[in-house]
Amino acid sequence: MRIAIGCDHAGVDMKQALIESVLRDHTVLDYGTDSPEPVDYPDVAKQVAAAVASGEADRGILVCGTGIGMAMAAGKTPGIRAAACVEPYSAELCRRHNDANVLCLGARISAVGMAKKIAETWLESPFDGGRHARRVEKIG
Ligand code: RB5
Repeated sequence: MRIAIGCDHAGVDMKQALIESVLRDHTVLDYGTDSPEPVDYPDVAKQVAAAVASGEADRGILVCGTGIGMAMAAGKTPGIRAAACVEPYSAELCRRHNDANVLCLGARISAVGMAKKIAETWLESPFDGGRHARRVEKIG
């Protein structure tokens, strides 16, 4: 898959860890940031969301301190369904029921090992379709 990824200053190490592990067999479009210099998470979220909404990327992953700000910001882009997840079951269900196309992780909430498991689960989980397709359509 083509995965657009981005983070703010809180998520630099987690972003890199994901790129080197669960994303190594994917095509990664990296929108930064790569330094501890503070950046505003909505700016990064907007870029990753645009990549997914335009079809340049199949899905997106965003990392900030909590994952929450990134999810709020990314969800403002039409066509983006962003989910902040702190454990794998939510990651599975946001794919199966909500067809989430952007995963948001919190580097100050989840350990890197947990974030990898969440991302792996999210990448592998399909959308169930059926009755969920009608509901997802209504989100739009
Ligand atoms: C940055 O300090 C922090 O506010 C940001 O990473 C994120 O947690 C916002 O939701």
